[in-house]
Amino acid sequence: MSRYVILLGAPGSGKGTQADTLRQSLGLAHVASGDLFREAAQKGTELGKLAKSYMEKGELVPDEVTVAMVLERLKEPDCSAGAILDGFPRTLEQASALEKALQQQRGQGIDRVLYIEVSEEELLNRLGGRWICRQCQQPYHIVNFPPKVEGRCDKCGGELYQRADDSMETARKRLEVYFTQTSSLIHYFAEKSLLTRVNGEQEVEAVGQELLAGVGNPL
Ligand code: AP5
Ligand code: MG
Repeated sequence: MSRYVILLGAPGSGKGTQADTLRQSLGLAHVASGDLFREAAQKGTELGKLAKSYMEKGELVPDEVTVAMVLERLKEPDCSAGAILDGFPRTLEQASALEKALQQQRGQGIDRVLYIEVSEEELLNRLGGRWICRQCQQPYHIVNFPPKVEGRCDKCGGELYQRADDSMETARKRLEVYFTQTSSLIHYFAEKSLLTRVNGEQEVEAVGQELLAGVGNPL
């Protein structure tokens, strides 16, 4: 039986930050739709060009393309035990497509949805100060979570950069898109008794502990 854990939360809530700890503790693959789109955009593929045109405006990439990409990724060998889904699903259509595919292909459903709650003011502060590793995608923050060596990733030594969609204007748009198109998933998964709410405005380690407790794996 595989495990599928969803990390749900607004842009900047800490999904990417927490995914690595969860991945190691649970022995699952980390599948982040945003990372997959950025990788495709860097390679200049047709999918990447299409995704980039939406990402730079802070809008969602169409459901059909997104669902197909994530479901393909879930078929890869490192996902055989399951996955932590970061940033997917983001619409009701994506959620039901995922549930349908898991049911058809594996005869199972989603195990848990971990909702990381953070206030809007703090989200903007986090996005404005974020730096990311070009190689392993590890996020840092100029004040909250600085790297040991300026401009370099602690984990792999990769170069740190700021995402183009973290500009104040695009970050605000992404938050608006989250509240209008994604936040309805909170209610959707709560109704199915799959949702665990976690306070995302604590130290990174404390948030990680709550998340692990939420999937039944306390540290
Ligand atoms: P995506 O890459 O998924 O971005 P996002 O959802 O906007 O989320 P972020 O990556 O910005 O935030 P995060 O929650 O990972 O926070 P992080 O850990 O980095 O999507 C980008 C775009 O791709 C979308 O706009 C869309 O166009 C497209 N896309 C992706 N998925 C899609 C889908 N399913 N459907 C359609 N389109 C899709 O942390 C943020 C900062 O806070 C960091 O600096 C970090 O160091 C800091 N921090 C983290 N935790 C703490 C803490 N506890 N205390 C203090 N600081 C903290
Ligand atoms: Mg992220």
